[in-house]
Amino acid sequence: MALMCGIVGYVGSGPVSARPLQVVMEGLQRLEYRGYDSAGVAVITDTGLQMAKKAGKLVNLASRLQDSPLEPGTAAIGHTRWATHGGPTDGNAHPHVHGDLAVIHNGIVENFATLKAELMEAGDEFASETDTEVVAHLLDRAYQETGDLTEAMRQVVVCLDGTFTLLAVHASQPSVVVGARHDSPLVVGLGDGENFLGSDVVAFIAHTNRAMELGQDEIVTITPTSVDVTDFAGRPAQAREYIVDWDAKAAEKGGFRSFMDKEIADEPQAVADTLLGRTDMAGSLVLDEIRIEESVLRAVTKIVVVACGTAAYAGHVAKYAIEHWCRIPVEVELAHEFRYRDPVVDERTLVVAISQSGETMDTLMAVRYAREQGSATLSIVNTHGSTIPRESDAVLYTHAGPEIAVASTKAFLAQITAAYLLGLYLAQLRGTLFPDEVAAKLVELRAMPDKVQTVLDRSDRVKQIARWMADTPTVLFLGRHVGYPVAMEGALKLKELAYIHAEGFAAGELKHGPIALIEPGQPVFVVVPSPRGRHSLHSKVVSNIQEIRARGARTLVIAEDGDEAVVPFADQVFRIPQCPTLLAPLLAVVPLQIFACELAHAKGLDVDQPRNLAKSVTVE
Ligand code: AGP
Repeated sequence: MALMCGIVGYVGSGPVSARPLQVVMEGLQRLEYRGYDSAGVAVITDTGLQMAKKAGKLVNLASRLQDSPLEPGTAAIGHTRWATHGGPTDGNAHPHVHGDLAVIHNGIVENFATLKAELMEAGDEFASETDTEVVAHLLDRAYQETGDLTEAMRQVVVCLDGTFTLLAVHASQPSVVVGARHDSPLVVGLGDGENFLGSDVVAFIAHTNRAMELGQDEIVTITPTSVDVTDFAGRPAQAREYIVDWDAKAAEKGGFRSFMDKEIADEPQAVADTLLGRTDMAGSLVLDEIRIEESVLRAVTKIVVVACGTAAYAGHVAKYAIEHWCRIPVEVELAHEFRYRDPVVDERTLVVAISQSGETMDTLMAVRYAREQGSATLSIVNTHGSTIPRESDAVLYTHAGPEIAVASTKAFLAQITAAYLLGLYLAQLRGTLFPDEVAAKLVELRAMPDKVQTVLDRSDRVKQIARWMADTPTVLFLGRHVGYPVAMEGALKLKELAYIHAEGFAAGELKHGPIALIEPGQPVFVVVPSPRGRHSLHSKVVSNIQEIRARGARTLVIAEDGDEAVVPFADQVFRIPQCPTLLAPLLAVVPLQIFACELAHAKGLDVDQPRNLAKSVTVE
């Protein structure tokens, strides 16, 4: 089993060269964030199939290749692995080989034990405990019968239960790479005299921005001059070509010490780009990707947001805005809970899936469940060509660009921005806001990128505080109204980046128990609503700050410019520009992201690839 992996395939024309291996290794480098506890490559050379694989980070494989290089070749496949079963060992690393065939795999073959038993019955022996090696045996057997790698793939995939992206090469077809996908990502990169495959476009973006998304249950055969796509029955399938709208540079660190630092710095652009091109000349919202009948949207009586982790907190922010603007009840459900609690959803429910990767299996399964119940489904996703948009009735892409760091930052702001657009679109459609009100809110939204930049420009002090607090054992986060999901997200960031126990609470919940946690010196972040909004909200949160300060808490307050009421009770005040109450999460979360990132750096941790985490959780 190998999950959330990096997968790269390459086939080029002309005599054998070092290019296939170079392209694959460079692609794996870019994909390493997706999973990193072992890595391997296979190359088809003039003398046949050659393979190298090593446990540990990609650098281990690179030095192995330095010590004993593989010969030049014409086709190559490569894989970085984040394992769940079958430890990260050389033997369990991919590719898995049988005869002259090599295969790499992302996902879980759930019936592999049965298949393995049948093969062992027939005398096959296995070198690893992985499901992928079973696929290698099956593919090689099928190849020996058919003499064709595509046909062999077709015969095998229909025997597999579970989720998989597979890439295979065979020494007898030196200019062919065959891929197949079921519930797991695979995209094609279209080159000149060469073609690419990858688990996402980051794998080949340095070589081409022409991509092709593959649909569910499709097989792709690439040669240097052709890309053929069929379904599992062998019928030709029509894959859609698109141009990737960011370049290789965007996927590099651009001089920052980590992808996370770069991605936080990119946040104004992520918000601005997500707003781009979504209003017409008259200033009305046009969300043409929303291919759901207006009559269906008008008839919606409930919205259910399904997401996980950070994306779920974006959903919570969306709830406040959409309920206020559209007067539709919005439930926010953790996708992995939603599907198993017999939720009440039907054709009058709009299910909104939020996902940066577009591959989170929990969220994908929730979307499938919702569609089975007859609900319209709309996804807010950052990764083009991913699975969740393909299985939704409509998609509202965020345009945050590639988010390489495992912990999500700029995508969170982009998700919130897209959710605001959705809310305003529904309010415009259903008439709960007048067109001039929608237009006015769009003006306020368009002012947000500059305000995010202002918060970034003020980040020195929060970085300094973070460095001082590097040894802190635990931090609490309080927020109210839209500040509550911000507090939850601030806690998650600190957990996943600095491995510090952190907990977010609704500020009003404090006196119902959590205040017992307050002791002298306990750091508490408090996200304060604008005093210009609902006054009672603001005054209640100021009282909360007083209560915890009286018990010795170190109060770290996020408050807007001009809010002097917090000063007497705050050890530190981090200022954010004034903005409408509902839009404040775009600003209030930024100091919390910076705090977590800086504290993790201060602890010498790998902020881009935190322990135990992977960028896209493509298993349930
Ligand atoms: C975010 O910092 C976390 N790494 C994680 O909670 C993530 O938000 C969650 O797994 C959902 O991922 P998705 O947005 O790609 O669906």
